Amino acid sequence: MKRIAILTRDCAGVNAAIRAVVRTAAHYKMEVMGIQRGYQGLIEGDVIKLGHRSVSGIINLGGTVLKTARSKRFLTEEGQKQGVKTLKDNDIEGLIVIGGNGSLTAAHILAAKYAIRVIGVPATIDNDINGIDLSIGADTAVNVALDALDKIRDTAISLERIFVVEVMGRDCGYIALRVALAGGCEDVILPEKDFDINRMCEEITEGNVSGKVSWIITVAEGKAKAADIAKQITKGTGLETREVVLGHIQRGGRPTALDRILAARMGAQAIELLKNGETDKCVGLKNDEFFTVSLGKAIKTKDIKVDSYYKLIKVLT
Ligand code: F6P
Repeated sequence: MKRIAILTRDCAGVNAAIRAVVRTAAHYKMEVMGIQRGYQGLIEGDVIKLGHRSVSGIINLGGTVLKTARSKRFLTEEGQKQGVKTLKDNDIEGLIVIGGNGSLTAAHILAAKYAIRVIGVPATIDNDINGIDLSIGADTAVNVALDALDKIRDTAISLERIFVVEVMGRDCGYIALRVALAGGCEDVILPEKDFDINRMCEEITEGNVSGKVSWIITVAEGKAKAADIAKQITKGTGLETREVVLGHIQRGGRPTALDRILAARMGAQAIELLKNGETDKCVGLKNDEFFTVSLGKAIKTKDIKVDSYYKLIKVLT
């Protein structure tokens, strides 16, 4: 394989993965093209050459130096064919897609429908890639959210207030659950679990009577809006409750060491897989061992186990 391309979505650690792909490819004397602005750039032929030096100084940067975009056009057959044409016109023999569910779904289409050799590298703060323990970006997102939560706790304690903090994760409660445990939250509202606002209000009222004066509840965006929960708590308890939505700050920022290491190893492994003739697969890493998951399986809904974490959060409250 002489020439490959990379296409990315953004989150912390993606640049470290780009660097690993480019430099591992250079090690094997393979050329790398960078597709800018994701699948939109693929359709429009927005392709640049990436050499060893062009990825200098990016290991610590958030986002993606290749830029990215959501592409409605790639959902159409016309858009897909145009994307395949860009690959052919540029003599690209293999593609590495670094991203989350949407990016890997499109990668699977390219592999399964158009016989393009594609390897996926899981990178999403949602950590919702099926079969993959930890995706690039999730650890940074949890740490960014935790840092914010620690700051909110300062005010929660000082003013004896209740805070409802909404974190990202689309339909997956990974960030909410991890942050709730690491941040010592009193409760967490997750897409994977039913919750009862009346029970929550009762617990807060009972706690309040026995002298507990501040609460932080984490809510995953896919389950409820922090503003609605805050309103319901105020109504149910009569206590002042504020909401905070952390939003996109969770997707950016300097990648943690864990994300950089994951990115370096998975990016390099993606090249090994392409070299070995593999396609339509996503790179996985568990207990320091590589494995693969078919892209078709990786894009299915991930069943995250929340019960033991949730139980512990409540025990430690
Ligand atoms: O998939 C990553 C993610 O950040 C989700 O957590 C969030 O729901 C979504 O993307 C936001 O998408 P956008 O940046 O397009 O608003």
